[in-house]
Amino acid sequence: MNSQQNTINILFNKANKKVPLKKLAVMTSGGDAPGMNAAIRAVVRAAIFYEIDVLGVMSGYIGMLNNEFMPLQLRSVANIIQKGGTMLKTGRCPEFMKPEGRARAAANLKAMGVEALACIGGDGSFRGADLLQREHGITVIGIPGTIDNDIFGTDNTIGFDTAVNTALSAIDKIRDTAASHDRLFIVEVMGRNSGFIASQVGVAGGAEEIFTPDHPITVDQAAEKIKSGLLKGKTSSIILAAEGQKPGRAYDLAEQIRKKTGFDAKVCILGHVQRGGSPTAADRVLASRLGAYAVQALVQGLQNVMIGTQSDQIVFKPLIEVAQNEKKSSKELLQLAQILSL
Ligand code: F6P
Repeated sequence: MNSQQNTINILFNKANKKVPLKKLAVMTSGGDAPGMNAAIRAVVRAAIFYEIDVLGVMSGYIGMLNNEFMPLQLRSVANIIQKGGTMLKTGRCPEFMKPEGRARAAANLKAMGVEALACIGGDGSFRGADLLQREHGITVIGIPGTIDNDIFGTDNTIGFDTAVNTALSAIDKIRDTAASHDRLFIVEVMGRNSGFIASQVGVAGGAEEIFTPDHPITVDQAAEKIKSGLLKGKTSSIILAAEGQKPGRAYDLAEQIRKKTGFDAKVCILGHVQRGGSPTAADRVLASRLGAYAVQALVQGLQNVMIGTQSDQIVFKPLIEVAQNEKKSSKELLQLAQILSL
């Protein structure tokens, strides 16, 4: 990317088309996230506005390697804005991480006349896209889509808001039964190595403690909090645990808490339910903005960048910078959850 050129004119005007782009491919990659369909729709419709043909790549890099492409027209993306999942399907593709795999994928794209690729996914997918541009000259743009919200350079990723709300509605239900039985619950949420879902849901759901990989706490701390709550008349508690590298770790935590306090904690692992469902309004708006302005960026000459938002403004970051940096969840939310659940 030319470092001078990291802004675009967001007005849809055919005069803004500075690059004679004729064919664009769009794909979803990595774990699916609610709002991916809304992003595909936005890419397709913005591209058609600029008279660019669009090809959907099926199943992420897997489809790129296997020549699974699908022409997308205006009506191909009708009635999908409200749907979870991704109409293009998605996947993780270790073969694409090898130079030979990328060479085959690039040759397939070129044979179809594709000049640019919009990749909706997470940082692993962006690492692959960056290499595709560097090694094979295919213009790429990244659109952040993952429920984890762990992508450097953007405040929010597509799917995060929906996943948080899905997890929160589960916590509210768990709270009903926890209160009725005077029980301690450990609820495990997704997020891999990041604590964004756990910290948001923890504060919004009134959790007593939040275990995240970003800002670890000890089991002793959690045990103390439960005991002191009991002394203050608390009869039920909810502890949030981000899955970390070991989905199912909530069972280990429950066992350790039982050993330290004698309390029998019930475990609920929310799992893939957090990845599904109709996207929230916030995710649909984010996906629509990012998808449409990604096309604006391509026709105005930006390449090898990820589009994101910071303080609600559209921003662009070099893909390599996105892939090489970490985004950590806020410690502030963890403290807030502790203070508000005394
Ligand atoms: O990256 C999204 C995510 O849902 C993570 O939160 C989770 O650890 C992982 O994907 C699960 O991946 P899979 O669906 O391949 O098991």
